[in-house]
Amino acid sequence: MENKGPYNAAITAVGHYLPEKVIDNKYFSDYLDTNDEWIKSRTGIIERRRLDRDKPTSFMAIKAIEVLLKNRGIGIEEIDLIIVATVTPDMMYPSTACIIQKEMGASDVWGFDVLAACSGFIFSLTTAIQFIQCGSHKKVLVVGADKMSAISNMEDRNTCILFGDGAGAVLLEPTEDKNYGIIDAIMKIDGNGGKNLYQLGGGSLNPASYDTVDKKMHYVYQDGKSVFKDAVKGMADVSYEIMMKNNITSEQVSYLVPHQANKRILTACAERMGISMDKVMVNIHKYGNTTSATIPTCISEYWHDGLVKKDDYLILSSFGAGYTWGSILVKWAY
Ligand code: UT7
Repeated sequence: MENKGPYNAAITAVGHYLPEKVIDNKYFSDYLDTNDEWIKSRTGIIERRRLDRDKPTSFMAIKAIEVLLKNRGIGIEEIDLIIVATVTPDMMYPSTACIIQKEMGASDVWGFDVLAACSGFIFSLTTAIQFIQCGSHKKVLVVGADKMSAISNMEDRNTCILFGDGAGAVLLEPTEDKNYGIIDAIMKIDGNGGKNLYQLGGGSLNPASYDTVDKKMHYVYQDGKSVFKDAVKGMADVSYEIMMKNNITSEQVSYLVPHQANKRILTACAERMGISMDKVMVNIHKYGNTTSATIPTCISEYWHDGLVKKDDYLILSSFGAGYTWGSILVKWAY
């Protein structure tokens, strides 16, 4: 994606929040026909976090933003745009961005939500950089937050063991040095994959009714095998494409930051790209699949552990419902 504007967008601060309540694999094997060994070996997940029933997605997003603002040393009043990636907004509308703005007391700001499932964060980041590159906005918050426990069928062993709740956020600011920041982004959609991963109920096609509830249409449905196969190919191919386009070799890549849906997907992608596993950011074992939050929580955790440094090349990559997928090349700027 060619940047014709005067600036590049650089990530200048990060923050994340995971709820305290830990749900281990035994929690599920106590009432479902599953076991710790199956979950660990097929997904890499050991535990995940769950937000209290009475708390919404915005609660986690705000916590992540607070960490970010503290670490950048600024207040919410300096933010001029808030973009929130989520498939579990607090409610259908108003947007979660509006709720965050009100709760945090941000003024003179605008914002909106982006619905792109597991690719929500990278789609939001790609949207956000346009405003920085052209110079219209100076401090843009991009948040990925999902309360997956709100849409998981806890009786379905195929899906309930996979998901967790969490939020991560990054701050984008302009840099005049176009060698740094978000260098390139390649995003794709293909609605033919829609049949493999969806939530049928609650929209205009199947508005909420006793029938949609009885038929469990307000939960995530996934044909795991098909999505697995398509995700490995989609993520590896688009990541390879962005490396080739920008003349970046696998040796130059400091970190691959993949969407955390299944440890076996991460391993297969890294293998296809010729990247060793010690260069792959992983937190799925602790948090499961937090949908929009997987990539920003990874980056924030690694950064807070002192593992991300100036000049590092990061490749962010995701694949999810839609299908939606893509890859972003970042050169860390600070
Ligand atoms: O984030 C958005 C993108 N999502 C993804 O990328 C997810 C991609 N898919 C996956 O990660 C994997 O397909 C799953 C983890 C969801 C499933 O793993 P799998 O190796 O593809 O298993 P499967 O669906 O082919 O099922 C194999 C067997 C089945 O039993 P039978 O039919 O062989 O008797 C399932 O019923 O495993 C069974 N199974 C389970 N057994 C124990 C499914 N879930 C469980 C479970 N515990 N929780």
